[in-house]
Amino acid sequence: MPVYHGLHINEHGSRENPAVIFLHGFCFDSSMWDEQIAALQDDFFCITYDIRGMGKTDAGDGQFTMESFVDDVYMIIEEYGLEKPAICGLSMGGYIAFRTVERAQETFGAAIFCDTRATADKNEAKLKRANAIKTINHEGLGTFIDNFLPTTVSDGFMEERAEEFANLVRKAKSGSALGVKGCTLAMQGRTDTWDFLPEINIPTLLICGEEDALSPVEEMRETAERIPCAEFKVVSGSGHMTPIEQPQQVNEILKSFLDKHHKG
Ligand code: MLT
Repeated sequence: MPVYHGLHINEHGSRENPAVIFLHGFCFDSSMWDEQIAALQDDFFCITYDIRGMGKTDAGDGQFTMESFVDDVYMIIEEYGLEKPAICGLSMGGYIAFRTVERAQETFGAAIFCDTRATADKNEAKLKRANAIKTINHEGLGTFIDNFLPTTVSDGFMEERAEEFANLVRKAKSGSALGVKGCTLAMQGRTDTWDFLPEINIPTLLICGEEDALSPVEEMRETAERIPCAEFKVVSGSGHMTPIEQPQQVNEILKSFLDKHHKG
């Protein structure tokens, strides 16, 4: 596993193939994409990595900004010498992807936004983030994870795949409190990419779980409608974590989009 500037990166498949960079969600890590990598790595050079403060990537001083997360994506592209990679981000990873594409969309061959939004935090969301940090400071990361993780999946997932969910919770609790707080502040301070959406001119796909409580279908549909070249797909029987909850559906959607727009 290469480590560039402290970032833990995983590469899968041949460098000869078109590249796809995957960005995971908040309080998860690069393994969130395991099922997608298994399905895509024969045809695409897949790069996943642990965003700063999450997974194996050290939190450092915990002082992150959305711009510094975007810098990391461009650093990876440069280190690997990638030609027009596709970028695929979920939720927090999607915030990073929106801003990354806004900065220089000509760098990319395609963009995929899963269970995310292009708008910045409104006051209510800012206060929620302040409260999250307070909870971590006063009650510990474990309490925050116990409150947060259930909002990321559908009720069906928690009931029917309780052991899998318990593993996700365990893993998230073993993370860095400093890293989680750093990511929280970076999300709170991110810019708004809503006005940029009509300017996107690369093939774009938006995916949303039909039961996503954090970035609901109607909001994502509206986001897709602002992007001239966007396709929009709803994943049935899933909450916010579509790649984990319904991997087969997500794999088919990704494969068909990438085969059409990102081959050769
Ligand atoms: C995520 O899943 O990455 C988070 O829900 C994003 C957020 O807190 O805004």
